[in-house]
Amino acid sequence: MTELVHEIAGLLGRSGVASPAPEARTLVAHVLGVEPRDLLRVRGVSDEQRAMIDALAARRAAGEPLQHITGLAYFRYETLSVGPGVFIPRPETEEMVGWALSELARRPVGARRVVELCAGSGAITAALARELGGLDLYAVELSADAFGYLERNLEAVDVHLVLGDMASAFPELDGTVDLVIANPPYIPEAHRVILPDDVVLHDPHLALFSGADGLDALRVVAETSSRLLKPGGLVAAEHDESHAEDVVRLFADGFHDVTSRRDLTRRPRYVTAVRSWQD
Ligand SMILES: C[S@@+](CC[C@H](N)C(=O)[O-])C[C@H]1O[C@@H](n2cnc3c(N)ncnc32)[C@H](O)[C@@H]1O
Repeated sequence: MTELVHEIAGLLGRSGVASPAPEARTLVAHVLGVEPRDLLRVRGVSDEQRAMIDALAARRAAGEPLQHITGLAYFRYETLSVGPGVFIPRPETEEMVGWALSELARRPVGARRVVELCAGSGAITAALARELGGLDLYAVELSADAFGYLERNLEAVDVHLVLGDMASAFPELDGTVDLVIANPPYIPEAHRVILPDDVVLHDPHLALFSGADGLDALRVVAETSSRLLKPGGLVAAEHDESHAEDVVRLFADGFHDVTSRRDLTRRPRYVTAVRSWQD
């Protein structure tokens, strides 16, 4: 088995995959129906399995994301169903969820109403639900394709889901929400031509691009959280690492304690703010 994994890793490495060894283990394990850590116990593969491994490795070598090939993405403690039409959750977002969990944990049950804007696969809401109890959860997503994954991934979670535009979502909650959290699209349109192929060709463009400066959706996140949050309520919004100051400015009106925060690689990645008592 080690030789087979090495062979596949070599193929992936030669075609430019950045982490060929773990990806080869994941691909082979996926075909054999075992966890990667159990591969050493497998006593050989059938011709049919070998053909399938080669076919999937060729797709990966041609640039298709591993997560689309296996249909799975990992985020904190979650295993999410993903595929074409939904954004693959990224590790950069995990830190923002950690911040939200520690803030929510300080609030009593009954003061933990959470709205996720731009929910995509539901990674953020799924993680919040698993890692902290007593949450009153809501999530909105605009893309019908992504919404199918959102429903599937949150099937076992008690959450109100809406297919629609965050700008007008949940009017019945205005002024009552404790936390708004969002990882919206934030790439400037002009960057379309410089993004790597595996992003541009496989992540939905509605999940990536957001106007000339990349801030259109973040402006809506600021307006919508201003509408939804109760005084003292919190917002956390992810952004591109080059946009920290711009996003801090978006929360200048109606919020205080506006703070730029870093992800695990120390890059500025999300802004948090507290809804003020008056505008
Ligand atoms: C970067 S993805 C984030 C998905 C998920 N929250 C995550 O972190 O993996 C942004 C998502 O926002 C959705 N979206 C874009 N504009 C929206 C809008 N006006 N209202 C609601 N969702 C929107 C996109 O379809 C996409 O699923």
